[in-house]
Amino acid sequence: MNQQEAAKAQFVRTTFARIVPRYDLVNWLMTLGLDRRWRKATVELVRPQSAVTLDLATGTADLAIELARQGSRTVVGLDFCPEMLEAGRAKVAARGLEQVISLAAGDALALPFDADTFDAAVNAFALRNVANLPRTFAELCRVLRPGGRLGCLDLTPPRGPLKGFFGLYINRMVPLLGAVAGGDLPAYRYLAESLRAHPEADRLKRMLDEAGFVQTGYRLVGFGTVAIHYGVKPARPSRAESRGARAKLPFGPRPQRAGDRVERTTRRAARPRPNPYKQSHK
Ligand SMILES: C[S@@+](CC[C@H](N)C(=O)[O-])C[C@H]1O[C@@H](n2cnc3c(N)ncnc32)[C@H](O)[C@@H]1O
Repeated sequence: MNQQEAAKAQFVRTTFARIVPRYDLVNWLMTLGLDRRWRKATVELVRPQSAVTLDLATGTADLAIELARQGSRTVVGLDFCPEMLEAGRAKVAARGLEQVISLAAGDALALPFDADTFDAAVNAFALRNVANLPRTFAELCRVLRPGGRLGCLDLTPPRGPLKGFFGLYINRMVPLLGAVAGGDLPAYRYLAESLRAHPEADRLKRMLDEAGFVQTGYRLVGFGTVAIHYGVKPARPSRAESRGARAKLPFGPRPQRAGDRVERTTRRAARPRPNPYKQSHK
């Protein structure tokens, strides 16, 4: 992490630590209660039923709870702000979901999980806050298993005929609401600023492609002010496909020798998948 990224991470962590007590209320007011519907849609996209799932930058755990509600077998919520995690744990406990959801401290830029750990991963209102988006997407791709699904919900720079109105809403109304209901004007000014620096939806989709995801795309909701991006980590080619690919090589496959790479790969693949719950998340 370079100095600029470290400074942003520190700023974001302390900002969220300050606004925890009224975070959920202000969120609800700012989105006119629509955030619940958007979270539900984001989770539906990744089909979490019986899956091992990750909610990155979980905050007060709303998306983690939605994953559990939609049938995820095991949910890990990760965040680098201890105060947000504490509030999240209280909500998880109040719903009796401690057996399904565990909340852990960790950084999106260096996820503390082995490769191929999760069946699905989601995040909400997180992307504008991470200091390095390409690295975050690369990390998400790494920890998803092949075929694993990603869903990302966040504000997107407004466009179209309502652009002026929403620009005004985000730049003037949201900081005002944050000051009155959240008691912290600078924190909610940051929210408007973070959107100005955020890539527009098509660019964000291309970043997912560049990180290695396939079947990427996005849906706009909230009158085009919110985007739900999605993608899939490519499945490993089947043995038959690999054989076909080798046969197409102009120079043909090299005969295998004892101890060469093919044999080592097979042995590695036979190792059991790491179970995230064997790691410490508390
Ligand atoms: C706007 S809140 C969103 C919280 C929650 N996902 C929700 O939907 O309400 C952004 C969260 O991202 C977390 N965050 C930002 N950068 C992070 C990073 N690099 N690693 C982990 N968490 C991060 C913050 O601590 C904060 O809790």
